[in-house]
Amino acid sequence: MITTTDLTKVYRSRGREVTALDGVDLHVREGEVYGVIGQSGAGKSSLIRCVNLLERPTSGTVTVAGEDLTALAGRGPRAGRELRRARSRIGMVFQHFNLLSSRTVQDNVELPLEILGKSGKERSRKALELLDLVGLADKAGAYPAQLSGGQKQRVGIARALAGDPKVLLSDEATSALDPETTRSILALLRDLNRQLGLTVLLITHEMDVVKSVCDSAALMENGRIVESGTVSELLATPGSELAAALFPLGGEASGDDRTVVDVTFQGESATQPVISQLARTYNIDISILGAAIDTVGGLQVGRMRIELPGRYEDNVVPIGFLREKGLQIDVLGHEAELVKESAK
Ligand SMILES: Nc1ncnc2c1ncn2[C@@H]1O[C@H](COP(=O)(O)OP(=O)(O)OP(=O)(O)O)[C@@H](O)[C@H]1O
Ligand SMILES: [Mg+2]
Repeated sequence: MITTTDLTKVYRSRGREVTALDGVDLHVREGEVYGVIGQSGAGKSSLIRCVNLLERPTSGTVTVAGEDLTALAGRGPRAGRELRRARSRIGMVFQHFNLLSSRTVQDNVELPLEILGKSGKERSRKALELLDLVGLADKAGAYPAQLSGGQKQRVGIARALAGDPKVLLSDEATSALDPETTRSILALLRDLNRQLGLTVLLITHEMDVVKSVCDSAALMENGRIVESGTVSELLATPGSELAAALFPLGGEASGDDRTVVDVTFQGESATQPVISQLARTYNIDISILGAAIDTVGGLQVGRMRIELPGRYEDNVVPIGFLREKGLQIDVLGHEAELVKESAK
């Protein structure tokens, strides 16, 4: 639904150059909620602004719903009109809501419809329908100053939906909100994704946001995507930073001659009594250092950190046993071997 190919963005100001995007290949599938996470300055906002051409990419292409937006940008008045039409099919939600304070809630939602040249009657019907959808039917006549932060963001979302977009882009839509309101806004985005089949690309620096609503995620560092995939793929990737952050586990080795292993259970593997089988088969004592069960991106996942007596070399066979059971195994301090093995 959204594809960027070798996207770069270099800002030039007063003789200085900043490379905000450095060859980004992003692929968001139709109907999914896709989260991009990264530290401040990683290039997240630049990416989302390039996706709807609010910012002109320096090079590379952006395709949304099968249309090459970069080809339309800056190619005379006719292409300009087409670009505006294509962009009206992309909704955008902002961190600070960007509502007009002099307009009522309903008039804020109607604004994009005015720009699209819709009649007064049509605008009002659509705006009221959208306000109902976001749970604000009773606030149509209120002004933004009379609303809470969460309500303002609901208006922002209703306005973003006015052009019947296929794609919704959200740049830190919840980072100005308290945790409770954040949850309700994320739930709303999830509902809209399901009810309207809306593809959502959201930018955040909060792992909890990714965890609660995203089907897929990418990690950005210094203008590059360093990891990406569905949540389930990420959890199955040895040494994945995103997986570890999505599902943190504590617990340290109790001595030097110990091997610490993180075991991830997904789907069917979750119901097998593998740890007791392991202890019985190899007659070893296993200590559990930490364990958690959680729902990540709608998926039930269990993780356990266990300690085996002996060094890694002594535990190759029991670790192989766990792998054969179809479990995701990360041996702490042995990422290099793991990557080599999984590449075979
Ligand atoms: N208009 C601009 N002119 C010059 N440099 C810019 C401009 N916008 C962003 N940058 C620079 O590009 C880099 C990426 O910025 P960007 O806003 O995309 O990061 P971000 O990941 O969204 O960060 P944050 O989490 O703080 O919002 C930063 O070094 C920033 O200073
Ligand atoms: Mg930003």
